[in-house]
Amino acid sequence: MSEMAENGFEKALAAHAEAVERFLDRALDERPRSGEIARPTRLLAAMRHGVLNGGKRLRPLLVMESAALLRGDKSAALRVAGALECVHCYSLIHDDLPAMDDDDLRRGQPTVHKAFDEATAILAGDSLLTYAFELIADDETLIPMERKAALVLGLARAAGIGGMAGGQALDLEAETVKPDEAGIIRLQAMKTGALFRYACEAGAIVAGAAAADREALAEFGSALGLAFQLADDLLDLTASPETMGKATGKDATAGKATLVALHGADWARAQLNGLVAQAESLLEPFGARAAALRSAARFVVDRRH
Ligand code: IPE
Ligand code: IPE
Ligand code: MG
Ligand code: MG
Ligand code: MG
Repeated sequence: MSEMAENGFEKALAAHAEAVERFLDRALDERPRSGEIARPTRLLAAMRHGVLNGGKRLRPLLVMESAALLRGDKSAALRVAGALECVHCYSLIHDDLPAMDDDDLRRGQPTVHKAFDEATAILAGDSLLTYAFELIADDETLIPMERKAALVLGLARAAGIGGMAGGQALDLEAETVKPDEAGIIRLQAMKTGALFRYACEAGAIVAGAAAADREALAEFGSALGLAFQLADDLLDLTASPETMGKATGKDATAGKATLVALHGADWARAQLNGLVAQAESLLEPFGARAAALRSAARFVVDRRH
């Protein structure tokens, strides 16, 4: 990528991150919303700790840029982006629990169960997951009901047994019974790919896109998700905890089934470039208008944290 395109992309990433953080800061304030009885202070603090603590906000960017590509409503896209980030942050809070990856550091800060306690971390995750659906279905999301229903259905499937949570289960099982390459790709398509796929597909749904456009963006998101997890696994091996803001070097110790463990770092680097080229080719039907999404794909391979 040219330096100018790179700077342009980093600016877009920062601008989207700021918008989604402002939205989430407001959505997670103390004021109980219609139908809520109260917002318990400590639980809300834990949710805020898990959400408003940095993070690259890459999934929200994908929602917003996919929606923008198809001229979807910006304010609805931001709400869906915020909802997806709530699901992602919930997945991280639970992923870090002692019963799962047992991590103390996330985004350069103590994990939620360390800063609070395990029960609160579990409940903060539960509350963020359900809040995501509320944010989409709420009257303030100003798109037709059929689109909201499609967004809710898609998010439920991406987050649930056939998506992220199912993938996390397979990821843990794989510590004892080693999957082959196809098994690793499948579990990663679930634990990470499903939310990336949804991010891109959701933008198309917000915009009321034609089925072919929706499918092309969903496929782009899946390809990007696989590349993203491969980069994460490579960085676990090669990067420092200081740059990552989370522990590194743990996948090998835990015996995590990753493609990096199977084939090594050099193979992974070469593979990453291929995966991104493949993802980019899925954007061809959109031509020059998909420049931002193309840059997002490049960012995934070039990222250092
Ligand atoms: C971390 O995701 C979890 C994986 C799927 C590898 P990110 O690297 O997007 O985490 P944040 O949101 O930027 O902290
Ligand atoms: C987690 O994958 C994917 C999730 C669904 C949360 P990892 O366990 O590799 O993520 P990190 O490295 O802790 O961020
Ligand atoms: Mg994990
Ligand atoms: Mg982890
Ligand atoms: Mg990891």
